Amino acid sequence: MMAADLIVGLQWGDEGKGKIVDLVAKNYDIVVRSQGGHNAGHTVVIGDKKYALHLMPSGILNQNAVNVIANGVVVSPAEIIEEMEKFGEMKGRLFISDKATMLLDYHAQIDQAREKLRGKNAIGTTGRGIGPAYADKVTRTALRIGDLLDIDKALEKLTDYFEMNKGYFEYLGIHIPTQNEMKIELQGYQNKLGFLITDTTKFLWDNMDKNILLEGAQATLLDIDHGTYPYVTSSNTIASGALTGSAIPPKQLRKVTGIAKAYTTRVGNGPFPTEDFGKNGEYLREKGFEFGTTTGRPRRCGWFDAVAGKYAITLNSCDEVALMKLDVLDGLKEVKVCIAYENNNGEEINYFPTNLDGLKPIYETFAGWDKSAGVTEFEELPKNAQEYILALEKLISCPIKYIATGAKRDETVIREQIYI
Ligand code: GDP
Ligand code: IMO
Ligand code: MG
Repeated sequence: MMAADLIVGLQWGDEGKGKIVDLVAKNYDIVVRSQGGHNAGHTVVIGDKKYALHLMPSGILNQNAVNVIANGVVVSPAEIIEEMEKFGEMKGRLFISDKATMLLDYHAQIDQAREKLRGKNAIGTTGRGIGPAYADKVTRTALRIGDLLDIDKALEKLTDYFEMNKGYFEYLGIHIPTQNEMKIELQGYQNKLGFLITDTTKFLWDNMDKNILLEGAQATLLDIDHGTYPYVTSSNTIASGALTGSAIPPKQLRKVTGIAKAYTTRVGNGPFPTEDFGKNGEYLREKGFEFGTTTGRPRRCGWFDAVAGKYAITLNSCDEVALMKLDVLDGLKEVKVCIAYENNNGEEINYFPTNLDGLKPIYETFAGWDKSAGVTEFEELPKNAQEYILALEKLISCPIKYIATGAKRDETVIREQIYI
């Protein structure tokens, strides 16, 4: 029987999903990306080497894992070709769904042009074309990766697409490629990717007896339906999205591991109740090196939000949590956790509401600690850090199985028996 486990981000992204996928990848035969695109940036540190993966599943760093980019992903052929070049022979190691949506350069140009037009209301996208590519998917005008197998037909579709959208492209000042330019581009992609294009639904179902890991990108609070809309990404980032995006049948989902930082960060605009604009936020940004893997933008930083945490754990039905970057809190005198919000009428809100405007966090304060960096046993963590973790576990009602104390693979506490 097939069994799939899922790694999913619980906050606004960049929780350290890549590190946990890498840590557990040895237990899996197949690693699958099921949504998002190269807006993701997953950093994996192995020894002294640092890898930044955007579209490529993190399983590529494990020689024995087979990697799948499934139907729910928006795939930039140019980006995946560039990433492939870093990892040698791909035959038998990477499969790309024929149903995946094709993301082309004009999607990025539309994304950037629209962000400019939004002015102060900009979403702060990664500018990679993710929203426009998903929009074309939903309006049924996108090319799919499988279209690369028949260039003449693909050209016809693309020509129709540009014809239909001519006015829009002119308005945004985006160049419409000539027939010849399109042909050369698509032919180049076919030559380099043709051998990887697969019906990944069938491939995964044919491998029902294998262990499959679904690698989430982005995170719960960036989900198009359940996140802080409109300041979200354009895919369903939560557990149910991983199933739609991969064709894994819902009842084959076995374990869900939610990934959360021991504090909170966010890149781009949108509400963030626990954001700290003062010296603590600055401390977290500097110490945690909180700058985006994809865009290099400084990440906004603040305290752990247990209300948002619980919301995310429920949406994803998490079995366990990996708490990341605990070491970044080392050296702080006090560490705070948001346990509820207060609205404009002075009422206490203890759930994650649709609209976060005007909510003020209510904090519980914990005593800080000096050194958790590099610790690999729970009992060897400073007492105050242990207390912090045990309190978080209760607040989010979910066992914290992994505690990351550094970027490297082995800088991790793995708790086997957890009681909450
Ligand atoms: P992802 O998008 O969820 O995979 O996360 P990113 O790779 O964008 O951001 C997480 C960053 O934190 C990366 O630079 C990781 O190398 C780093 N990281 C992961 N876990 C830890 C940790 O426990 N401690 C520290 N200091 N850094 C970590
Ligand atoms: P990983 O997988 C953090 C954010 C962008 C922006 C919003 C919409 O590394 O955790 P988009 O380009 O997707 O249309 O941008 O979503 N965003 C991320 N933030 N980590 C990510 O991925 C993100 N992917 C998108 O900053 O606010
Ligand atoms: Mg990231």
